[in-house]
Amino acid sequence: MLYTIILYTHILSAIVSMGPLFAIFPLLNRMKDAPSEQVGGYVQSIQGILRAIANGGHVVVPSGLLLIWFSGWSWKTSWVILTFIVMFASLFFMARAFKPAMTYAKSNGFVKENFISMIKNATWKYIFLMGILLWLMIVKPNFW
Ligand code: HEM
Repeated sequence: MLYTIILYTHILSAIVSMGPLFAIFPLLNRMKDAPSEQVGGYVQSIQGILRAIANGGHVVVPSGLLLIWFSGWSWKTSWVILTFIVMFASLFFMARAFKPAMTYAKSNGFVKENFISMIKNATWKYIFLMGILLWLMIVKPNFW
């Protein structure tokens, strides 16, 4: 029962940390045609989405750790180790890709088109990383 609750929480937080990423694309499309006085609002919306993703990530990691603890999986299992590596890479990536774009949004030389392409690029890469994590979780491949 406890395990099921943790697994449910884990999957729910995985949805929260991935789902909002797909809301970024339609926002960017509208931002492209938006008048300059509305651009700030779009930047703020994207910031909110990124915060929601980060919150999901903060629950996915501890609940995942609890799942390993309560399940029979060993910390040395290859898919568990790879999950940690990819997870660490994605935290690093989050800081390297999205943060500069948000800092750029506040800079004086802000050009809307550059911001859109930075965010679009970062979003696709992040979806790819999360896709790898999802695959590792579901397939649980044995590499060695
Ligand atoms: C440090 C990060 C993580 C750890 C340690 C972790 C660990 C685990 C463990 C131990 C299970 C239970 C496996 C089982 O016995 O069935 C699980 C299930 C799952 N995890 Fe994670 N996880 C992490 C991150 C993620 C992320 C980022 C996602 C989404 C992208 C995710 C999505 C899922 C899903 C969908 C399941 C259910 C799969 C199933 O029951 O077959 N996890 N995770």
